[in-house]
This record gives sequence, C-alpha cells and structure tokens, in this order.
Amino acid sequence: MRKPFIGGNWKMNTDGKNAVELAKGVAQGCAGVIDKVDVSVCPPFVYLSAVKQALGSSNIGLGAQNVYFEAKGAFTGEVSCQMLKDVGCKDVLIGHSERRHVIKETDALINKKLIAAIEASLLPIFCVGELLEERKAGKTEQVVKEQIQKGMAGISVEKAKAVTIAYEPVWAIGTGVNATPNQAQEVHLMIRQLIASMYNKDFAAQIRIQYGGSAKPDNAAELMTQPDIDGLLVGGASLKADDFTAIVKAAAPVKK
Ligand code: 13P
Repeated sequence: MRKPFIGGNWKMNTDGKNAVELAKGVAQGCAGVIDKVDVSVCPPFVYLSAVKQALGSSNIGLGAQNVYFEAKGAFTGEVSCQMLKDVGCKDVLIGHSERRHVIKETDALINKKLIAAIEASLLPIFCVGELLEERKAGKTEQVVKEQIQKGMAGISVEKAKAVTIAYEPVWAIGTGVNATPNQAQEVHLMIRQLIASMYNKDFAAQIRIQYGGSAKPDNAAELMTQPDIDGLLVGGASLKADDFTAIVKAAAPVKK
C-alpha cells in the first residue's frame, strides 16, 4: 500500500516571520492525521533552519527546493546535499518545472542532482511535466518519458526506492486550471508502466507519484481518488496553513 504524500512547495515566497508562522500552523493543523499521510514543506533555503525548529516534533518533513550535485568547493551560490542534511532536510525537489524552464536546467544536470541526493540519503521529489504546446501537439507521453528516462539514467532499483515522482503539467502550475483527475490519472498510469519497464512491476507498484498543478482544498479529494495518484505537490495553496491542512486531510482517508 502506498501511503499518501503531500508536499508544500513554497517557492520564492514568505519572509522569516511568515515562514515560521506558516510552519507552526501546518504542524498544528496536521497533528491529527500525520500518521496517515506523509507531509513535507519546502521553504526557501534561507528559512530552512527556522522552519525546522518551528516544525518541532510534528513529524512533518523538511524539504529543499533545489540542490547542487557537487559536494563542496568553488560553486558560488550553490548548496550541497550535506548542507541540506545538516539543517535537517529529509526531502529535496529536483527538476521542478520552474528550474527546467526559467533557470534552464537540463535532464543531464537533473540526473546528476538525483544521483547526488540519493547518495547523500536525501529523498528526492523528482518533478516532470509537459508544456501546454507539447500537450496540444500530442507529445505529453514522449516528453514525460524522456524526462524520466534521462533523469533516472544509471540509477539502480535499490537507489530509485528513495525517489518520489511528481507529475506537474506546466500548463496547470499556478494557473488555477488543474489537470482533470482523468487527465492526471492517464499520465500517472503511463509513468507507473514506464517504471515497470525500466525497473520491475513490484517497484512500479511501490513508487509514489504525486500530482502538482493548481491542487486546492476543493479538488484534492477527487484527484486523490484516482488509482495512480498517491499524493500532491502543492504550490500556491501551501502558503496558507488552513488550505494546506485541508488538502492533507482530504488525502488522509485514501487507501491504495
Ligand atoms: P501551484 O499549486 O501553485 O499550481 O504550483 C504547483 C507546483 O509547482 C508545486 O511544485
């Protein structure tokens, strides 16, 4: 059975005070359901330590939004896996669409980051998803497959067990237009079948696949009823403790 996993990606939002208040609100709000759902929040780098402290003993995971693959040295502005571990991170987002399309990260770079994160015992949330024009051109499957094959190249099944995949169609991110549950399910099933062909059926049945893109309290439960949607990666709605908590609660009863 796959335990639901809800992530909050705060992106480049909050300030020091607000980040701590938000973390405390999420910790309080999720207290009754944290044994049924895995929950992580991903604040900006500079607030990781403060958020870790604010989360206290809540069992809510701390995640970073990015990492660099090198261990240390002359890489101005970058942050290593060990640094993330040092401040208490469990998870790390890798290959988020904004890093692919705004910062121009390549599949090859994302692959190096995934390998480094797994080696450091971080749990990557590996993000994939197609652009609107790619969907319109009927290329969704091709794009997502290529991102996964290139991103996970050279990663053994044992190592891949650390990975959660997040399917985030770029046209649904921050637009208020979520993929319909059926649209998302179709891609999630394709991803699971791809993982079965790249690895094996047992592992494909275990790996968690989150959906991201305008997930909200009022669409979370329906998305989560889909057989291959195991969680949500939430952007905008993770910035309000009440909304994020409502999404976590909507995911709690779902068993697969
Ligand atoms: P929104 O929930 O704001 O659409 O963002 C989704 C996302 O990018 C999460 O990583």
